[in-house]
Amino acid sequence: MCGIVGYIGPREAAGICYEGLRRLEYRGYDSAGIAVIRDGRMDVVKRVGKLRILGETLAAEPMPGPLAIGHTRWATHGKPSETNSHPHLSCDGKIAVVHNGIIENYAELRDQLTAEGHEFKSQTDTEVIAHLVEKLYDGDIFQAVLKAIEVMRGAYAIAVITEHEPDKIVAARLRSPLVIGIGEGENYVASDMAAVRQETDKVYVIDDGEAAIVTRDDIKLFKVTGEPIAKDPYVIPWPAEAAAKGEHKHFMHKEIHEQPEAMRACLAGRITEAADRVILESLNMTPEEIRGLKKVILTACGTAYHAGLVGRFMIEKLARIPAECDLAAELQARDPVILDNTLGIVISQSGETMDTLLALRELKAKGAKVVAVVNRVDSVIARESDGVVYIQAGPEIGVASTKAYTGQILTLEMIAVHFAEVRQTAPEAELKALRRALLACPDQAVELLRREPDVVKLAEKYWQLHNSLYLGRGINLPSAMEGALKLKEISYVHAEAYSAGEMKHGPIALVCPDLYTVAIAVQGQVYEQMVGNMQEIRARSGPVIGVVNDGDEAIREHLDDPILVPPCPELVSPITIALPLQLLAYHIADIRGEDIDQPRNLAKTVTVE
Ligand code: M6R
Repeated sequence: MCGIVGYIGPREAAGICYEGLRRLEYRGYDSAGIAVIRDGRMDVVKRVGKLRILGETLAAEPMPGPLAIGHTRWATHGKPSETNSHPHLSCDGKIAVVHNGIIENYAELRDQLTAEGHEFKSQTDTEVIAHLVEKLYDGDIFQAVLKAIEVMRGAYAIAVITEHEPDKIVAARLRSPLVIGIGEGENYVASDMAAVRQETDKVYVIDDGEAAIVTRDDIKLFKVTGEPIAKDPYVIPWPAEAAAKGEHKHFMHKEIHEQPEAMRACLAGRITEAADRVILESLNMTPEEIRGLKKVILTACGTAYHAGLVGRFMIEKLARIPAECDLAAELQARDPVILDNTLGIVISQSGETMDTLLALRELKAKGAKVVAVVNRVDSVIARESDGVVYIQAGPEIGVASTKAYTGQILTLEMIAVHFAEVRQTAPEAELKALRRALLACPDQAVELLRREPDVVKLAEKYWQLHNSLYLGRGINLPSAMEGALKLKEISYVHAEAYSAGEMKHGPIALVCPDLYTVAIAVQGQVYEQMVGNMQEIRARSGPVIGVVNDGDEAIREHLDDPILVPPCPELVSPITIALPLQLLAYHIADIRGEDIDQPRNLAKTVTVE
């Protein structure tokens, strides 16, 4: 995915676009560019590599001017290079386009335009938009963009400027996010509210099939069919600092530390003060529907998939509904059986992940009702679902998902408890204990963050080892999978997650002094078995870090180093266990000097299949 920005107003447009891009860099960071119009002339700069390289160029050679658009890229069509970077220009260089999305019929359009004499410079799909608009331009850039949209297939958020009409930005959206920031005597265009939050707290959220003409003093909204529309501004509910690193070295560190607050926001109003009921109206399900459920299919990618595995466990255990959890990219191939009264639950921080979106559509097409557990308000996955429970974590910018993960589990646990209440499938005493434990999560998170120095010591001891195993069982097998994913994606240390019960069927052959094992052995159903597995590893000279409960002295002889977590019901433990494992991954990566917020080859949101 990529990020786009635009600015028109009295200030230096390039600088404002650059600041906006800095807040969108999580969307892509292999190259970036800005186009400025000043005194009726277009000026473009593009650089390969991190955004700061573009920033250094702008500092050395400023590009003054009141109108600009900018782009930060994560390559899909064409490798990262200056030529493939946006903005892309028309043949005469008078029209510039930035684009997030994919133009599916670009090859066909490119052939047509080439036959008509247009010369392409890049290998990107986006460049066809610039040439198409140039071909269709007849004195009105807005009309030319609308006509281009008529023939483009795919997904796009675009911003277009032209030397011919240097008083406006034209923007449009289909299936890629777009907001118009509302200023005073100045206005903004961006992929995401985070990019404009420093400047304004009011935006128009542009919907699919809508377009805008943005000038200094006015914003006109339309359907892409050309008919004018009106909508209310959306007031961004979080402060400007939420999209900045503040005192933290990395966004990931900041977001790990935001978890107590994010959990409080997620729980607010959803569990009664007396802990006697879960209230989730936005699920949009009647008690009859919940009672009638025959099957639940959860689906997601990456970290959100791990949260889904916890959700599956909870729903089956408490609500006694057969539950499955699929990797979204695999769901279609599996062709799952959808019974009458099957509920789909899709989980996504961004609400934009293409594989998850396609899985959602597949479930709906097969007749399932679908509920989304999403962070990003108004995202496409939220809109296309029949019900949505927002996790309320605020903007998550670090590529490694942290606070969204614990928010997703918290939400899925509330859904499972709610289903059990309605279906009367678990004793009220157990449900009450779970509700209380969920309400206690924010305070437990505060305590776990206070213990960060203990995790730093572990990172200092183990950072040089290149291989690790993460073991769990039952509801904490997903915790092991998530711990391993965190470590590998930001530190590039090889980390494998297994059910501890599987060790003797093969992976135990890997065990040696150079491979450390993180074993999750909190009190609960699988505790004794985990202790046995830890003994087997230590008997083969493998060092063991045990994630164990405060006060469990007996287990200490079976581990080399403990990570202590406060006790809680086993079913809630994946939430608290996540924090020290996030911190362990973070500090190992930090000591190794890795680029934690922007790990190699990754983008925060994957909007391609
Ligand atoms: O935005 P989503 O939750 O749909 O994203 C899903 C995954 O791409 C995401 O969780 C990814 O695995 C993260 N990099 C993990 O830290």
